[in-house]
Amino acid sequence: MSYETLNKISEKYLLLIDSYISDILKGEPELLYKAAMHLIKAGGKRLRPMITLASSKALGGATSEAKAVYYASAVEILHNFSLVHDDIMDNDDFRRGIPTVHKVYGINWALLAGDLMFSYAFLTPYLAIKSGANEKEVSRAVEVIAEGSKKIAEGQGYDILFEKTWDVDEKDYLKMIYLKTGALIEASSKLGGIASNSNDEIIELLGEYGRFTGLAFQIKDDILGVFGDPEKTGKPVYNDLRRGKKTILVLYATSRKKEWKEFFMKLFTGNQSDEEIKEAADIIKESGSLKYAEELAKNYYNNALEKLNSIETLGIIKDEESFKALKELAEFSINRDK
Ligand code: IPE
Ligand code: IPE
Ligand code: MG
Ligand code: MG
Repeated sequence: MSYETLNKISEKYLLLIDSYISDILKGEPELLYKAAMHLIKAGGKRLRPMITLASSKALGGATSEAKAVYYASAVEILHNFSLVHDDIMDNDDFRRGIPTVHKVYGINWALLAGDLMFSYAFLTPYLAIKSGANEKEVSRAVEVIAEGSKKIAEGQGYDILFEKTWDVDEKDYLKMIYLKTGALIEASSKLGGIASNSNDEIIELLGEYGRFTGLAFQIKDDILGVFGDPEKTGKPVYNDLRRGKKTILVLYATSRKKEWKEFFMKLFTGNQSDEEIKEAADIIKESGSLKYAEELAKNYYNNALEKLNSIETLGIIKDEESFKALKELAEFSINRDK
């Protein structure tokens, strides 16, 4: 599939989001705001704000766009907050092709830059009042963002807990990735529904679309963490294996064969050589783990499309192009190389 529609609208959307965020994230001390803008300036896919904008436009037409930009900016700011803290926790040196915030500015400034962005994520929705949002709408938007934010923290908590235990199964993994990643993407699509004054049924269906897209997205992230090209992803490769992350790739392989389980148990106890890491990647392929993960992601992608179909059946699509972009965004989540 090509991303014809997505390519068409994304340039405009990227500029829009970036200019709003640059305007919003301004203040002193300068060093703090520089640290906060460090990753944002480096780009990123802007998947979440695009989902917010496309959802709102698909269901509300052009009129909802102005409000949606604020909600979209809020989710991208919250996302960037989570990345800054995540890179500290995962001890990652690179993201978006540049050194991470704590590497450049030190842990204290990185923590503060995260705190700052976290705060702005909740201030930003109020700016939508300027574009016609009423207080009830904004309060709903803030609640959705808060729910997403709370879940990120819970998911990140499980992610770290799972590094140190083997008492994790696929169900635990799915719950963890829903919380750390799926929930914010779910919030992003719901916010589009809120901006377009959609009814509860539609907001819920949009949320389900986002949730499934988010699950597919994180499974693909875990695949790229082992098989991705750092030149393209802008992130280090193999770090999940070095940190003992219980991704689906590891969980599936270790459930297939005793010797694979023993291999990973040993691998995760200490300093791994490059050869051992390569061997782990080979086992992930040989065990069928890679294939299994790809299929799992594909299933979630199909579920996401089903939710979009349910919305389409209601005959309420106001902008076909944006609706098509939502489909392409789901597809991109599983077929991307960055
Ligand atoms: C990275 O998110 C963190 C995950 C939830 C996997 P993205 O892959 O969307 O990162 P950017 O924003 O494009 O850099
Ligand atoms: C993604 O965590 C979720 C959040 C950042 C909240 P990961 O640790 O799996 O993502 P990457 O691979 O570092 O982007
Ligand atoms: Mg990480
Ligand atoms: Mg992490």
